[in-house]
Amino acid sequence: ARVVEHTFNVGNLKVRKLCHSRVITAVNKKLPGPTIKAHEGDTVVVHVVNDSPHNITIHWHGIFQQLTAWADGPNFITQCPIVPGNSYTYRFNITGQEGTLWWHAHASFLRATVYGAIIIRPRAGTKAYPFPKPHKEFPIILGEWWNADVVEVENEALQSGGLPNNSDAFTINGRPGDLIRCSNKHTYKIEVVEGETYLLRIVNAALNNQLFFKVAGHTLNVVAVDASYTAPYTTDIVVIAPGQTVDALMVANAPSARYYMAASAYISSPNVTFDNTTTTGIVHYKSTALTSAPPVKPMMPAFNDTPAAHKFYTSLTSPVRLGSPAVPLHIDEHMFITFGLGLAPCSAGQPKCQGMAASANMNNVSFVFPTKMSLLEAHLKGANGVYTKDFPDRPPTVFDYTNTSINTDPTLASLPFAEKGTKVKKLKYNSTVEVVLQNTAILTIENHPIHLHGFNFFVLAQGFGNYDSSTAVKSYNLVHPLVRNTVSVPTGGWAVIRFKADNPGVWIMHCHLDVHLPLGLAMAFEVENGPTLSSTLPPPPPDFPRC
Ligand code: C2O
Repeated sequence: ARVVEHTFNVGNLKVRKLCHSRVITAVNKKLPGPTIKAHEGDTVVVHVVNDSPHNITIHWHGIFQQLTAWADGPNFITQCPIVPGNSYTYRFNITGQEGTLWWHAHASFLRATVYGAIIIRPRAGTKAYPFPKPHKEFPIILGEWWNADVVEVENEALQSGGLPNNSDAFTINGRPGDLIRCSNKHTYKIEVVEGETYLLRIVNAALNNQLFFKVAGHTLNVVAVDASYTAPYTTDIVVIAPGQTVDALMVANAPSARYYMAASAYISSPNVTFDNTTTTGIVHYKSTALTSAPPVKPMMPAFNDTPAAHKFYTSLTSPVRLGSPAVPLHIDEHMFITFGLGLAPCSAGQPKCQGMAASANMNNVSFVFPTKMSLLEAHLKGANGVYTKDFPDRPPTVFDYTNTSINTDPTLASLPFAEKGTKVKKLKYNSTVEVVLQNTAILTIENHPIHLHGFNFFVLAQGFGNYDSSTAVKSYNLVHPLVRNTVSVPTGGWAVIRFKADNPGVWIMHCHLDVHLPLGLAMAFEVENGPTLSSTLPPPPPDFPRC
């Protein structure tokens, strides 16, 4: 095993996109930032130097951080921010996962421009991919671009209690693509040789949108998601929620030409009619002259094509093979978590708010991020007053999760939808946890990508409407369920996940639509130390950012 070392200088970068110039926050003056290439078993060391005007943290999305919880990165959960002029060295091992993950800022909306790929290849010298070796590999990072300053966009929304403006374009590796104004020169291109196979490592780094991804004229063969191998699944369309990754093989077996790869929005709420632009890149067959016909366009699904999204998500399974991690059958903690958007009275920190503010919750608790000490530091010190340990195992009130009409009942605000609190659920080391994740319809139904830090989980089942154990349990896949770190819970529906709490520390679980995070669509697990030294979280490094 090697040590893979990087220095990330976070600073200002002037860029021009969509005919606008703007200063963004970026790592090493690149968008996307550097790709971390490692092998399973390696140690990664990243020195993050904050030369930007913003408080920042970096999260290594999907990395387990076994016994290194202080390197996980979410602001005020596992650390205080790296303030301007300061630095922090993240040091962690990559064990037990292969495929594509990514890193991103985990403070305010900064991840809009502070992100990059993590590529984990099989352990050096010992193993190969469980599929034919591709001729070449390409990271395809899907993103979102605002002409305005994203931190201002977020602050504006928070102060008014409303939702932030939509982005101005989607991007592929930071570029909107040549169908968008002023973007022609910078379109992302890959060159392929007829008959060869390519591995596309697709990441959805967009803030607030699930995306459909396609390559015109080609099918894709999905071989991994969230750095877990899958049974190979052939599809012409990939669906990917913010936080998720998809590794797919593409054989260059189409007639020699130029083809668009494209990503467009998947919007699951029936109350939103929004169709952002399609971002494109180009797949160029080497033997095709540049002057030939324009690239072939793919037919993208309609933005509200929930059946297409559901088909993709439910067709994926883990490979059936010896040595696949076994699904725990004995459950220590059964949780039922409802979540969704609601309303709350304007608060003191919202000077531009009139009457009601947007809010979000899990089990009717709207998560409040601490400001004086991170949850992890409070956990390690046993400090009082930073959080409470009473996150409910189930929702305190019962309501119809499937009602799809917007609820305009004026008494809504007095319902306990938006009790504010910093509540954690305490878990014993090695306990097994099942969570039924149930979308609610207080304001609108919508698909929420729920991401758990510190663990992968098995996705046992998912469906529409209210979860009903009498029928749902029969549909659980206990043989080869998909393993992920982010599950897209169907709009107006539910998903069931299971994981083993074998990693001591404090781990946030939240909606990966960034717009919902400051509204409170989050909770955290506090996992106790185990009985031995190898199950005890050591103290954090000396440069650990405290407040
Ligand atoms: Cu990729 Cu808590 O996030």
